Amino acid sequence: MNRRYFLQKTSTASLAFSALPLLPALGRTEAYKTALVGSGWWGMNILRCAVQAGQSKVVALCDVDEAQLKKAKTELNKLTTDQPKFYRDYREMLAKEKPEIVIVATPDHWHPLCCIAAVESGAHVYVEKPIGHTVLEGRAMVNAARKFNRVVQVGTHRRVSPHNVSGREFLRSGKAGKIGMVRAFVHYGGGPGQVVPDSEPPQGLDWDMWCGPAPLRPYNKLMHPKGFRQFLDYANGQLGDWGIHWMDQVLWWSEEKFPKKIFSTGGRAIKKDNTDAPDHQVAVWKFEDFTLEWEHRYFAGNEAEKTNVGCYFYGTEGTFHMGWLDGWTFYPTSKNQPILHQDPKLNEPDQQNIAQLWTDFLGAIEGKRRSLCDIEIAHRSTNLALLGMLSYKLGRSIEWDGEKEVILNDPQANGLLRRDYRGIWQYPSV
Ligand SMILES: NC(=O)c1ccc[n+]([C@@H]2O[C@H](COP(=O)([O-])OP(=O)(O)OC[C@H]3O[C@@H](n4cnc5c(N)ncnc54)[C@H](O)[C@@H]3O)[C@@H](O)[C@H]2O)c1
Repeated sequence: MNRRYFLQKTSTASLAFSALPLLPALGRTEAYKTALVGSGWWGMNILRCAVQAGQSKVVALCDVDEAQLKKAKTELNKLTTDQPKFYRDYREMLAKEKPEIVIVATPDHWHPLCCIAAVESGAHVYVEKPIGHTVLEGRAMVNAARKFNRVVQVGTHRRVSPHNVSGREFLRSGKAGKIGMVRAFVHYGGGPGQVVPDSEPPQGLDWDMWCGPAPLRPYNKLMHPKGFRQFLDYANGQLGDWGIHWMDQVLWWSEEKFPKKIFSTGGRAIKKDNTDAPDHQVAVWKFEDFTLEWEHRYFAGNEAEKTNVGCYFYGTEGTFHMGWLDGWTFYPTSKNQPILHQDPKLNEPDQQNIAQLWTDFLGAIEGKRRSLCDIEIAHRSTNLALLGMLSYKLGRSIEWDGEKEVILNDPQANGLLRRDYRGIWQYPSV
């Protein structure tokens, strides 16, 4: 193929500016009392941005693992002279510190209870994706945000990433033509892995509280920190973890709210460790005007497919790849047209755009408006991932009434829109 490769020259600075939402009004002079619940990897990425934005006083760090708290404190000391108090129980922290902003970056199964409790206590919340483990938790989170009139923002930062913003504009301008199908995917390599025996939790980790409302399983070091993603009691595998980002991009581009039909299948063809999430999976969502497909696998990580993460939008004028580290690329149908490309503009560490999202969060609080990544928007995106997993677990397709948030003609499937909580913990209903 003799096609010119054309690097779009649009300055990343101007893109970054156009991606930035309103800056917060200058009305407020004192810093927001800010607390972090879940002081692990991503929570600290968010807290760092909060500190760097200069409008937060960090009053509390809450984690069920003392080792995580200690690490967080060391890191925080390099950024600020704030001396936050340490907590193991978010309820005690909320009651004593009365934070105005709470960041929730626990594993997924804890997001709903922590978020709702924070909102009820009067705080604005920045909660991580996916917003919950089952669909009806998300509904309760949306209802709580509205009832208590708080800003609840979700960490779907790709809505403010410069190349995602310009990519969406490109798609919406019609330059890729009519899009009939979208394929989202994450293909990471990996092998079978190994069974790691369960063990006593490390000293300083309150394992019962870590499991919280979810089933209490024996501690296994594959689960914590970070590893919960591949254990279905606490998360929803790759579709729940990475998939939600791409589902969110598809809803953002299409301005659709929900699909009509969903089907997913997959399994564990290669993995032999003691995780239980599928090591490969496909899912399909039927929307009014297009079909969305998802694929992931944890093996055969190679260059055969050129890119391992993103979404292909298939249009009548060409194929548009919305990526991450590789920005976006448009491959026109016409052989006379150049391939177009836009590099990403991402922040270190971990190539994200949290700082831009934090700016919007403060702007929403001060402007008494909803965030660009409002909880209801992320509820719908999370639902795509959760309904995909629901179909995978059920082994059959489902029909979704997105207005009523019920699955049609399938009481067993509807039962999976929630789950029983353990012990003292109550499934949220607001
Ligand atoms: N938006 C993004 O791009 C992005 C990227 C990475 C992670 N995340 C999300 O961030 C969340 C955290 O992921 P991570 O990789 O940082 O995990 P992590 O294991 O590093 O951190 C989670 C922390 O929460 C703590 N925790 C568990 N239960 C708690 C409770 N009841 N109260 C207080 N702390 C509790 C754990 O001890 C741990 O320290 C996940 O939901 C993940 O999906 C989002």
